Amino acid sequence: MAESLNVSGNSKKEKYESLLPQINALIDGEPDFIANLSNIMSALKYGMDFFWVGIYFVKGNQLVLGPFQGPVACTRISLGKGVCGTAWKEKRTIIVDDVDQFPGHIACSSLSKSEIVLPGFDKNGELTFILDVDSEVLANFDETDKHYLEQVMKLISRCAN
Ligand code: SME
Repeated sequence: MAESLNVSGNSKKEKYESLLPQINALIDGEPDFIANLSNIMSALKYGMDFFWVGIYFVKGNQLVLGPFQGPVACTRISLGKGVCGTAWKEKRTIIVDDVDQFPGHIACSSLSKSEIVLPGFDKNGELTFILDVDSEVLANFDETDKHYLEQVMKLISRCAN
């Protein structure tokens, strides 16, 4: 296993292209889902220099905080609440350029300005987790993030229990 990541490139696309194979190598051969998620959160935060990156698990009628990197965050989110609860309810990726403009946005940190939230599915196609990525910069996320983070979600789904 690599001791540290080496993310190269100037553009966002180049950074993701460099990071993705390293994420793959990081989880290769390790069957433990939480261990893999934990390392992937670290790889994303430090590889892409995000403010906050984390997983929420679907547990009953709520999302419950899972492995993350960044400041402490809210523990539970209800269906349809905030960006995460909306992505869960609508089963789709949501990009928010300015969190203050998103009705019902849940502010875990006043430093977070924009975010992208992606739904995650288990091997049976059930939505069982959510990935939330936050930035201190307005409009930080675009179709490039969506494309590559959806690739990461596919990797995660493959090792989901
Ligand atoms: N902002 C999210 C809540 C989670 S935190 O940002 C970590 C939302 O509105 O769903």
